[in-house]
Amino acid sequence: MTAFKRTLSALAVSACLMPAAATHAGEVEVLHWWTAGGEARAAAALKEMMEEQGHTWKDFAVAGGGGEAAMTVLKTRAVSGNPPAAAQIKGLDIREWAKLGFLTSLDDVAAAENWDQLVPPMISDVMQYEGEYVAVPVNVHRVNWLWVNPQVMEKVGVEIPNTLDEFFTVADKLKAAGYIPLAHGGQPWQDATVFEAVALAVMDSDTYRKAFVEHDMDVINSAVMEEVFAKFAKVMSYVDDNAAGRDWNTATGMVIRGEAAMQIMGDWAKGEFTAAGLTPGEDYLCAAAPGTAGEFTFNVDSFAMFSLSEEEDVAAQKDLARTILEPKFQTVFNQNKGSIPVRTDMDMSEFDACAQASMETFKSSADTGELVPSLAHGLATTSYVQGQVFDVVTNFVNSSDKDPVKATDQLAAAIQAAK
Ligand code: BGC
Repeated sequence: MTAFKRTLSALAVSACLMPAAATHAGEVEVLHWWTAGGEARAAAALKEMMEEQGHTWKDFAVAGGGGEAAMTVLKTRAVSGNPPAAAQIKGLDIREWAKLGFLTSLDDVAAAENWDQLVPPMISDVMQYEGEYVAVPVNVHRVNWLWVNPQVMEKVGVEIPNTLDEFFTVADKLKAAGYIPLAHGGQPWQDATVFEAVALAVMDSDTYRKAFVEHDMDVINSAVMEEVFAKFAKVMSYVDDNAAGRDWNTATGMVIRGEAAMQIMGDWAKGEFTAAGLTPGEDYLCAAAPGTAGEFTFNVDSFAMFSLSEEEDVAAQKDLARTILEPKFQTVFNQNKGSIPVRTDMDMSEFDACAQASMETFKSSADTGELVPSLAHGLATTSYVQGQVFDVVTNFVNSSDKDPVKATDQLAAAIQAAK
């Protein structure tokens, strides 16, 4: 055998020994903002599954809850002609990126994997541009949750509040006993997260939709909205004085340690309790945000896929999209992330009680019409309107007079200008 033939046959043998995917091994650069404890564990599950398929994971994590910082960095990278393979982009923004010509079609993966059958149409619609999939949904977060430290509640002799009025009574008692009633971080997206929970408590789901999805000016500029701001101001009065700039997971830590009794936050907060080894129903409790039982504010994380030039990287990108909707990933990822699977056919027996309750309410609220998109997390409206609402809400939180009438006028003017 000549040296040349020997080399060829050695190559042939080693090719046979390699796992199939590795022959197309490529790199996926993935932009996300999952840097808190539970979030990072969830992201690591995806990295691991991509590496198992022989691909290289290039982590592009930009810290900052809610993703504002990540979106700024993404724009810079995309404009300079160097976008990542995948980026955590949500809601109507997916279409904006597609319209600008940045995204690639995932229709071959979607057809082969039957995505149309796996994902509820309300979600799969958002993943498509002009009838083609350009993004893959990862999970469903419920945003209108109340996280509670049961030991603190017991010491003070109070129960989980079911309505806003009960919340005020309970919070007064907690405060009198020396606890911080509500853990919160003063950042625009966190302010908006509490604001939308209060709005859903004060309004019914139809009115919420009219205001924040359809931007019906008669609803936005109304006495009901003034009541939302008034109640929101009262809720925020139970936050401690050091909240400015505090990260959401630091606020969750305050509930975990028993410095604060409650937090209104999406169920990525559960990822923190899970990462700390805590059990729902014992070490912490989850309940609907006061006044929103049966209602479900949804927030869907999704990865939009950018056009790439290298064949191997395109193959890796398609494997990423396929892996995300596989049952194994959906289970491991969501157990760590605090969310529920975006596939509605999943066996929920391996999930904790909060996730099971979330899936139940997700399904029942879809039937009753009480399933509404989150404004604070980019599912209800464009990022332009969202940004305007954030400004008004955060200015309101930081103003000394907290005038609900003035804030309602400002909200109306801001939405009118941006819609
Ligand atoms: C995202 C979550 C994330 C949270 C906090 C939300 O907008 O959807 O995935 O955990 O922000 O950063």
